[in-house]
Amino acid sequence: ASVVQRLWRGRVSADMLSPRLQRAMKDYLSANKHHVSYSGHRRTAQSAKELLCQIKAQARLSTVDGSEQPFSSLGWARLVPSVPLEQLQDQSSFKTCAVVTSAGAILRSGLGKEIDTHDAVLRFNAAPTEGYERDVGNKTTIRIINSQILANPRHQFNTSSIYKNVTLVAWDPAPYTINLNKWYASPDYNLFGPYVEHRKLHPDQPFYILHPSYVWRLWDVIQGNTQENIQPNPPSSGFIGILLMMALCEQVHVYEYIPSMRQTDLCHYHERYYDAACTLGAYHPLLFEKSLIQRINTGPESDLRRKGRVTLPGFSTVNC
Ligand code: C5P
Repeated sequence: ASVVQRLWRGRVSADMLSPRLQRAMKDYLSANKHHVSYSGHRRTAQSAKELLCQIKAQARLSTVDGSEQPFSSLGWARLVPSVPLEQLQDQSSFKTCAVVTSAGAILRSGLGKEIDTHDAVLRFNAAPTEGYERDVGNKTTIRIINSQILANPRHQFNTSSIYKNVTLVAWDPAPYTINLNKWYASPDYNLFGPYVEHRKLHPDQPFYILHPSYVWRLWDVIQGNTQENIQPNPPSSGFIGILLMMALCEQVHVYEYIPSMRQTDLCHYHERYYDAACTLGAYHPLLFEKSLIQRINTGPESDLRRKGRVTLPGFSTVNC
């Protein structure tokens, strides 16, 4: 069976990857750039319900709120939005939510209308809707952006309409041991300056930075349910976005995270760049993230094949 067919059934391991991707993975394991040291469990036989309850307990949403150093001294308690991210859905009520990944396989899906019927739609980084409405829809409620979007002028963060009229959620990997002072002094890409500037210019736009401990607790869940050593790098934005929406919504549909029958090496639907690493992972532990999400998928395999669609319950509907 192909890697994708194995993913549809939830049984994967690194030796299914191409030699090139396996080598990349080994290199990341030996570099261990973020100084990850994991000493927790490796449960491999948890049921879907047990897994969901573990995720719900371990993936409590958390953002930088200015209560900790160095952010407290920098006055961030008054800089961050006064409504916490966890309460975003209180005003608008998110019953059904869609997470739309940027995978090339969403091209020619015709899923745009279905995606736009959701109460809230989450998109990633610089992924556009303009020109791709038939396949990806045009509604955007939340956009998760990595620190490169803020730091690299190429993305025109301050002027592009992609980042306007939506809730923004940024993230950047801190060291695994979460030293906020070290993180502030040397983030992967400098997001702090642009964040402060943007908050001052657009105080009414909800804009959050995920707490790095949230990102690494998500990584712990993946490693804690995988026998092999996964890449010691943060989960992909896709995985972070899925778990974020499970915290905010009653039901979540994820599109083209687990690849459909349209699977392709085309990295993004909006760019002509081909690399299987975008779907199966080199830097991010993508293969293992996807396997974990498939284990808690409540939708049928036919949804995976035809739509690349996973159905997940929101945490508020899961009784543990
Ligand atoms: O590349 P980028 O991180 O902006 O894409 C957003 C997310 O979509 C990724 O983090 C990943 O989870 C998902 N993705 C995927 N397969 C691809 C491209 C993106 O699963 N080919």
